[in-house]
Amino acid sequence: MSINMTSAGHFIGVDIGGTGVKGGIVNLEKGEILWGCVRLATPQPADPESVGDVVRQLVDELTAGSEAGRDSTVGVTFPGIVQHGTSRSAANMDRTFIDFDIGTHFSDRIRRPVAVLNDADAAGLAEARYGAGKGTCGTVLVITLGTGIGSALIFDGNVVPNVELGHISIDGHDAETRASAVARERDGLGWQEYSVRLQRYLSELEFMFSPELIIVGGGISQRADEYLPHLNLRTPVVPAKLRNDAGIVGAAIQAASATSGLRGSTSPTRRSTGSNQP
Ligand code: BGC
Repeated sequence: MSINMTSAGHFIGVDIGGTGVKGGIVNLEKGEILWGCVRLATPQPADPESVGDVVRQLVDELTAGSEAGRDSTVGVTFPGIVQHGTSRSAANMDRTFIDFDIGTHFSDRIRRPVAVLNDADAAGLAEARYGAGKGTCGTVLVITLGTGIGSALIFDGNVVPNVELGHISIDGHDAETRASAVARERDGLGWQEYSVRLQRYLSELEFMFSPELIIVGGGISQRADEYLPHLNLRTPVVPAKLRNDAGIVGAAIQAASATSGLRGSTSPTRRSTGSNQP
């Protein structure tokens, strides 16, 4: 399949997670994955060399090894703090990623320009522009529940980067060790038991930020009807509209922004009227 990667607003997005690496070719006019999504396991140990190999394999699969679109920037997310192209933390990745120039590394690997950002910030960008947060003014939180807990803080459609709300301390525990999707599986919790932990976590965020809306993303957003009805918050809590694709779409937004020299932002037009129902 041959896809023109620039003229029609098509960009490759790659979403690196603690357990899987996913990618797709995204149509940014519609905010949809046009082709893909390819998913490969995150190698263990998840060090720069082996993760770089997987990213290259994935981009090769998406482009069928073709030289077409070689100049087009590829967006790549990383599950840790990303500042000026450098990863600064690695809670669920190999520690050699700390203070590592991932922008240059991935770009060298795939021989294409690369724009990097935190995975939850990518999901936040996508949800704010095309998804459940589209048009919402004020503060919106996107919380991704997966191997860890990712967070994006959005104000009037703009993402404040690297807000690490998965690591706030709750009842003496790092929040993601209690309330991530992996923590639920590890501790063998049913949905109702898990909802209690989620309620505790989200109540704390509600107290800290008084958001207009909380969007829950990550793989677990596909099961939102199992736990959202048990939550009791002042703030509407809704599942991510782009579900688990938000990271890929957000990566593509970042690639397009890097290409045009703009930062990703959206145009909010209304306040939230959502409810806690999925
Ligand atoms: C990391 C975040 C990341 C989240 C989800 C956390 O452990 O600190 O940066 O967004 O996991 O991958």
